[in-house]
Amino acid sequence: PVKVFPDKFSASKRVAHRIADIINFKSSKGENAVLGLATGQTPVEVYAELVRMHREEGLSFKNVITFNLDEYYPMNPTSAQSYVAFMKHHLFDHVDIRPENINIPDGTLNKDEIHDYCLKYENRITEAGGMDIQILGIGRTGHIGFNEPGSAPNSGTRLVTLDDLTRSDASREFGGKENVPTKAITMGIGTIFKAREIMLLAWNKKKAPIIKRAVEEKMSGDVPATYLQMSENVEFILDEDAASELT
Ligand code: F6R
Repeated sequence: PVKVFPDKFSASKRVAHRIADIINFKSSKGENAVLGLATGQTPVEVYAELVRMHREEGLSFKNVITFNLDEYYPMNPTSAQSYVAFMKHHLFDHVDIRPENINIPDGTLNKDEIHDYCLKYENRITEAGGMDIQILGIGRTGHIGFNEPGSAPNSGTRLVTLDDLTRSDASREFGGKENVPTKAITMGIGTIFKAREIMLLAWNKKKAPIIKRAVEEKMSGDVPATYLQMSENVEFILDEDAASELT
């Protein structure tokens, strides 16, 4: 289903409140909440609202385990462009999550370590019980995580090559496209489907054409986000601009 909100702020509040409900429900049963998290511009206000709820309403992350979708490769976690730095800046440094409960793909591995690492990442997700909720953005290529066009619906966590458009869109953060890594480690589409609930978020006119394709086009690897049409447990959370080309 598609849900359209007047703006990204009201939409982000709705998403943050759903996440908080899951955390509180799980903790009332003495269980961990397992969150699948995204980086990029789109979820920034979601994390801001979660931080506010932690500060003002006592929302605790003590029983939360997180798995991030992806990280550039190679990437040093201390680098400003790393998704580790992003997550610390927007969420982890401001809440009471246990550092050992945070999982983000490691961008510092040697090439020959990546395959085993990815299998372990996948196993850790399974051992944690799968994600209770997975938050997604969408790239203009139709990628979710960094599953670019051509990704298989049953793909697992792996090293991938970034699409040219994806690297162009990241060029500002890196001060030039030539500085954007050509690869990334990402959860697969199959990994994302381990989540019991999925919310794909998109704001702005810039995302309107790809949202139209993701929601309305026949499912195919040309637009990986179309695979989300397979599941009943997916919500497309849009602002009016991102929804503006839907028929
Ligand atoms: C980020 C990720 C990507 C982004 C997508 C949109 O962890 O997996 O799929 O969600 O590239 O990025 P923004 O939100 O910056 O437009």
